[in-house]
Amino acid sequence: MPARLLDGKQIAQTIRSEIAQRVQQRLAQQLPPPGLTVVLVGDHPASRVYVRNKRKAAQEVGFVGQVLERSADIRQAELLDLIAQLNADPSVHGILVQLPLPRHIDEAAVIEAIDPAKDVDGFHPLTLGRLTAGHPTFLPCTPQGVQELLVRSGIPTAGVSTVIVGRSNIVGKPLALLLAQKPTPAFPLAGDATVTLVHSRTRNLAELTRSADLLIAAIGHPGFITGEMIRPGATVIDVGINSVAGQVVGDVDFASVYPRAGAITPVPGGIGPMTIAMLLKNTLQAAEALSR
Ligand code: GUN
Repeated sequence: MPARLLDGKQIAQTIRSEIAQRVQQRLAQQLPPPGLTVVLVGDHPASRVYVRNKRKAAQEVGFVGQVLERSADIRQAELLDLIAQLNADPSVHGILVQLPLPRHIDEAAVIEAIDPAKDVDGFHPLTLGRLTAGHPTFLPCTPQGVQELLVRSGIPTAGVSTVIVGRSNIVGKPLALLLAQKPTPAFPLAGDATVTLVHSRTRNLAELTRSADLLIAAIGHPGFITGEMIRPGATVIDVGINSVAGQVVGDVDFASVYPRAGAITPVPGGIGPMTIAMLLKNTLQAAEALSR
């Protein structure tokens, strides 16, 4: 039997409709619309596309979505000033600085300058620390998108042998925390899974991936996971967004994995739309906390 296709685009659309309804309820109560500001530094072509999609999605659910563009030679002090202004602006509930930043900018310093109450990306060390401690505020968008997709698809994670391939700050590391955490009232989305985090230096990588009932690829390497690396019937989540000869492809070699998997996310149309939906969810959450 071919794998079940997990339609992230459809699930993300449902979430966006739910958010749009909550925005209308806010407006009916004379509360301001949630405001999301995305800061784009330089001319990275992929970043430009991502940022445009984020603003469009924000505007479609009734947020005030704006993109502030700055040239690649901006001084770090100027960028930090801009963030201080956004921190102080009551109409801005969420701030996202698109990564990567130019090499002369200290990325960690920029992320730490964002008010944690407006950290809708979930990248601030305080936000990540709260996730680690089991009482999160904002969950990083892509890990949260993976978990929401699993929950809304009825795929259980409690006790499930899970292997995450990739240890990035944006996906692998926080996803491992989110999936391994015991659920509590403060953290209902926690996965309760048995998590192994593997990466480019892992020796017996294929042996480990074959042991997984839930396999998540977030390594940024096109087609890295092939059919013989998965357990038949496993759920395979592909977080990769790679550009190969003008085509967007994932970290999973779909042609060889699809016939063996139990369920799989496509690229595009899997985790990508979920990430944007979670950014909207976090921004709504920020607005609700900041302007009650
Ligand atoms: N660059 C690639 N993905 C992301 C993301 O989720 N957030 C930010 N800020 N930059 C990114």
